Amino acid sequence: MSDLLIRGRVLTFVREPEGIDDTAAYRFHEDGAVLVADGKITGLGAYGEVAKQAGGNVRIADHRPHLVLPGLIDTHLHFPQTQAIASYGAQLLEWLNTYIFVEEQKFKAPEHAAFIAGRFMDELLSNGTTTAVAYCSVHPQSVDAFFAAAAERNMLMIGGKVMMDRNAPEALRDTPATGYDETKRLIEKWHGRGRGHYAISPRFAITSTPEQMEMSGALVAEHPDCYVQTHLSENLDEIAFATSLYPEAKDYTDIYASYGLLGRKTLLGHCIHLSDREIAVLAETGAVGVFCPTSNLFLGSGLFDRDRFARHGARHAVATDVGAGTSFSMLETMDEAYKVLHLQGQRLSPLHSFYMMTLGNARALELDHRIGSLHVGADADIVVLDSRAKPAMELRMQVASTLGEELFVLQTMGDDRSVAEVYVAGRAMKGSRAKTGGESS
Ligand code: GUN
Ligand code: ZN
Repeated sequence: MSDLLIRGRVLTFVREPEGIDDTAAYRFHEDGAVLVADGKITGLGAYGEVAKQAGGNVRIADHRPHLVLPGLIDTHLHFPQTQAIASYGAQLLEWLNTYIFVEEQKFKAPEHAAFIAGRFMDELLSNGTTTAVAYCSVHPQSVDAFFAAAAERNMLMIGGKVMMDRNAPEALRDTPATGYDETKRLIEKWHGRGRGHYAISPRFAITSTPEQMEMSGALVAEHPDCYVQTHLSENLDEIAFATSLYPEAKDYTDIYASYGLLGRKTLLGHCIHLSDREIAVLAETGAVGVFCPTSNLFLGSGLFDRDRFARHGARHAVATDVGAGTSFSMLETMDEAYKVLHLQGQRLSPLHSFYMMTLGNARALELDHRIGSLHVGADADIVVLDSRAKPAMELRMQVASTLGEELFVLQTMGDDRSVAEVYVAGRAMKGSRAKTGGESS
């Protein structure tokens, strides 16, 4: 296949922005292009230069006047909860018992798992998300469905089988031994296959016995290149219950620390009600706190304190947390993130939002050499965003004069309608046509 030249207003971050005017944190080409060959980026910059590099036999996808950015990254969500979004009225533990532990039982059936996995990947892509870190259900067949659907679309996805051996319905419980064996087998099957990465996934301290935590620690020690994902300090009743189950632990964080689960590849959902001691442990170990604003508001869990994380030098990422999260859209997620931080007197500049959805999350996953920014050698996972996708956006954009304003309009008013195209390893997934060869005006 001939090379592909993606033309548009190209934006990519090179480091974390320090304020709303930090133009050195990104590269922007008003008439720019990204050259793609064999799924990788081979050229990037002003259109004229990149077109020269490309030569004659190239397909051109002209997306002007839209923005061309790295594909968006979602660092925490639950694929078996796709049909449980918008489950009414409860806080975390009641919500899990009433809705989620019922829904997840359906994933015992491979056909159901395959159907939802396909729809889940398509939903991510229509929202411009090209990489996500997901929990599957306790059933190994749900993990097979998840990675098969990702592979079919050639998406870089991270996921794993939830382990839980108590405080859940019998039909959703594994045992320390089966949780270990099945996880081991799934790692061998899927980790490093195509673009798949495995996340060792003890659901949270409440649903794992000390024996299962022990086995999770063994899995982490045996597979240091795998991710670890779990939940930490989301809800006050959850914290009281978790710490009552582990009376020897200093606090909730210490439960995970004492089983060797904290490291630079550990993603901890929520981290809302942590003590200074706990945040210091996250900073020391490099574990990542994952901010899930729509979920935290929806379940009434609380407000993530980003500035406190920063003061401690602790790492954080952003995520939807579907199905407690109420949208697959990272744009809508950052709109809510802005409001959650605003309520606490903290600022989230549009530059910082777009940094977080791309390079920031890629760094949290230690995958920034491959995804999260547009650079030569990176995987060609790319999103094209239309800042005028809705009439109200078009009207608002008539009076926008800076890139920062445009990004803020996208974040505040945008959703899947703003995603004009998404490329996975250089392949257009929404189907916009590329012209072959020659000059385009
Ligand atoms: N804590 C343990 N499991 C879950 C889950 O599925 N969703 C959320 N939001 N929190 C959890
Ligand atoms: Zn979660």
